[in-house]
Amino acid sequence: MSGPDLRRAAAARALTLVEPGMRLGIGTGSTAAAFILLLGERVRAGLDIVGVPTSEATRIACEREGIRLATLDELPELDLTIDGTDEVDGQLRLIKGGGAALLREKIVAMASRRMVVIADAAKRVETLGAFPLPIEVNRFGLGATWRAVETALAESGCAGRSLTRRRDAAGAPLVTDGGHALLDAHLGAIPDPEGLSARLWAVPGVVEHGLFLGIAGAAILAEARGEEAVVTVLGAL
Ligand code: 5RP
Repeated sequence: MSGPDLRRAAAARALTLVEPGMRLGIGTGSTAAAFILLLGERVRAGLDIVGVPTSEATRIACEREGIRLATLDELPELDLTIDGTDEVDGQLRLIKGGGAALLREKIVAMASRRMVVIADAAKRVETLGAFPLPIEVNRFGLGATWRAVETALAESGCAGRSLTRRRDAAGAPLVTDGGHALLDAHLGAIPDPEGLSARLWAVPGVVEHGLFLGIAGAAILAEARGEEAVVTVLGAL
C-alpha cells in the first residue's frame, strides 16, 4: 500500500460528498490532484459541477480533466471545498501551505459552507508544528517583516524557532500565485495556535499564514492495514 494508494482512497471517499449542481472549491497538492483525477472521471461521465481552483497548478489540472471552472468573483459562495493538508490535529486545526497555495486555499475554504480535508493518516498529529509553518508575506519590506515575524513567534512561546525563505525548484526565491514571498517557520511545536495566528495577523507585511483554525469541518484520513486502505473520519461529514 503506497502513498498514492492512500491519497486515492481518501480522495475517493471525498468524491462521495460531491452532488450534482455543487459549487466546489478544489484544493492544491498531490492529494487534491488525486481528487481532481477522480472528479474528472465523474464529470466526463455526466456529473455537472462547477469548480473554483485554489492555485494555478490546480486550474491547469482541472482544465486538463475537463472540469468546468469559475472564479470567486462569479461564485462568491461555495458549497464544499475539498483540499489536502500538511498536518491536522484532534480539533481539526490544520497547517497548510506546503504547496505554497495557502492564501488562495484559505480564501476559497472561507467562502465555502464546508471544508473537508483529505490526507494520508500520517498527517494526523497531537500538536501542530513539526511541519514548518508557511507564512506568506509582501515582498516590500521583507527584512522588517522577517524581524517582526520572529518577534511574534518568540512571544507565542514557539521554541527552536527559525525562519527560512521558501525557494522554487530552480533554487530561486519562490513567488506565490499572488506575487508574494513565502517564509517557513521551523517551530517543532506550536503550543498556542490561536495566539500565534493573532500575532502573525498583527504584522503588517504578513499577507496570510498556514494555520487553518476553525475552518475544516472534517478530515478524511487513509491508512494502510495490511493490503487494505482504511479510511477514518475526524469530525462530521
Ligand atoms: C498546498 C497545501 C497542500 O494541501 C498540502 O501541502 C498537502 O499536500 P499533499 O497532499 O501533496 O501532501 O496546503 O498549499
